[in-house]
Amino acid sequence: MELPVYLDHNATTPLAPGVLDTMVAYLGTQFGNPSSSHQYGQAPRQAVATARTQLAHLLGARPQEIVFTGCGSEANTLAINGTTAGRTGHVITQATEHPAVLETCRALTRHDLRLTVLPVDEYGLVRAADLAAALTPDTILVTVMHANNETGTIQPIAELAALTHRAGALLHTDAAQSVGKIPFVVDELGADLLTVAGHKFGGPKGVGALYIRDGLTVQPLIRGGGQEHGLRSGTENVAGIAGLGAAAQQATTTGGHTHVTELRDQLHRLLMTALGDRVALNGHLEQRLPNTLNISIEGTVGAQLLAQVPQLAASTGSACHDGSISSPVLAAMGLDVQRAAGAIRLSLGASTTETDIRHVADLLTDAAGGGRR
Ligand SMILES: Cc1ncc(COP(=O)(O)O)c(C=O)c1O
Repeated sequence: MELPVYLDHNATTPLAPGVLDTMVAYLGTQFGNPSSSHQYGQAPRQAVATARTQLAHLLGARPQEIVFTGCGSEANTLAINGTTAGRTGHVITQATEHPAVLETCRALTRHDLRLTVLPVDEYGLVRAADLAAALTPDTILVTVMHANNETGTIQPIAELAALTHRAGALLHTDAAQSVGKIPFVVDELGADLLTVAGHKFGGPKGVGALYIRDGLTVQPLIRGGGQEHGLRSGTENVAGIAGLGAAAQQATTTGGHTHVTELRDQLHRLLMTALGDRVALNGHLEQRLPNTLNISIEGTVGAQLLAQVPQLAASTGSACHDGSISSPVLAAMGLDVQRAAGAIRLSLGASTTETDIRHVADLLTDAAGGGRR
């Protein structure tokens, strides 16, 4: 049986070519503990060091600024808890963050910290003026994601970072969805801390990283053996880290995939040609990840539409039950309940082909009842 067309790369990606081969050695013959001083520790230790350099290179950072973690969520937690631990003051985030950021920030309010959650505009963008108004002399941290997982909307991080720094605070950005998809360097972005998730750009699941600008003091998340500059103790997931490094190296070489943008826009055009103004784009048309198309088709419910089309693997990008509960991301953008319930997220990847796109456009058009209302 033919497998469904996979347009859910924002949920997770397949391993990039060669990544599995890089990893396998550290699950087999090179099984040693990187902290061991005998010969078995050497190759794993070298693998972790190589991966640190590969990821640093992709981000325009220095290897010592990279801390490997167990996942993107953990990197977010290290950034937020590690910069605020034991302090009183104020933290700012925004409404369309991943729960790994939002929930971690909300939990801070139990520890003498105030939280401001900034609103977003209809495209999911934070307004610089809102951040400027929210910053106070005791603001410690501003955490705003780079690109949104549901809509792909890319926040103006450099502008927000400049405002944040002027107020004497730190800027963290969750770049789980943008690393490897769009080229950037941390200095231009102005981020002090930046989250990476391996499985969103051709690396394995269960490994992430946090970039921490040199000289910043961050409290440890896990104490123990002192691995990862003492910030994240625990024997390293060598295979996972090596895989993340290999994926980072490939992303550095390819610099993203321009054909993905063309295919994404072709899919959008095909659907608009077939369904006309029933198709509404959710998110920003231009300031958006090159692989992400989040649309609502009038007269449909996203979850039902996808259930009708098992030949397509995609997601609603929202917890949508009977069309009554829609995504907090789309709700924060002010979308009405019907449009939010109609949302489907189509996220392409390096292996997506034009044949896939044409097939998916036909399937969705048929399932949505063609041009009929
Ligand atoms: C924006 C964003 N941040 C964080 C995460 C969490 O990453 P991980 O699954 O590695 O914990 C995800 C994954 O869904 C994400 O999309």
